Amino acid sequence: MTFQLSNQQVTSKVELYSSLAEQLCHLLAGEQDFIANAANLSSLVYHSLDDVNWVGIYLYKDGELVLGPFQGKPACVRIGLGSGVCGTAAKIQQTVIVPNVHEFPSHIACDTASNSEIVVPLVGDGKLVGVFDLDSPSLNRFDDEDAQGLAELVRIFMNSVRP
Ligand code: SME
Repeated sequence: MTFQLSNQQVTSKVELYSSLAEQLCHLLAGEQDFIANAANLSSLVYHSLDDVNWVGIYLYKDGELVLGPFQGKPACVRIGLGSGVCGTAAKIQQTVIVPNVHEFPSHIACDTASNSEIVVPLVGDGKLVGVFDLDSPSLNRFDDEDAQGLAELVRIFMNSVRP
């Protein structure tokens, strides 16, 4: 299989995420393996978004989050529910945008280059499956358009994998 990342010029975040959604559908077509599809989701997003230094998945296992497929520097392996940005998004099952991670009380610093973060929960049939986490070296990198665009990518990913 060869997959060519799109080099189409996009002028807005809405266009960018729409192009990513289309590319992700092609990339995941015909494959249902959770880890394989999580790895390709992380790679597509890491290589397509500007100004990100870490993109990956934590899986919810036995009451905690455990590191899954990612792109970026090595990261902490286990995160308790309610800890850090990831554990918070997992606990409340809602997307959390942190404009400045240094002001988030329980933030867990894996890569010291990270200054802002967004975490989207992965929920299937109402049950927590994990989280999708993105870090940026810039302050205030993520907004509601990122949250909406990433939620659509997560929806495509969750629909692709075996229940
Ligand atoms: N910063 C996260 C930990 C994971 S890394 O960013 C890869 C947190 O506070 O949960």
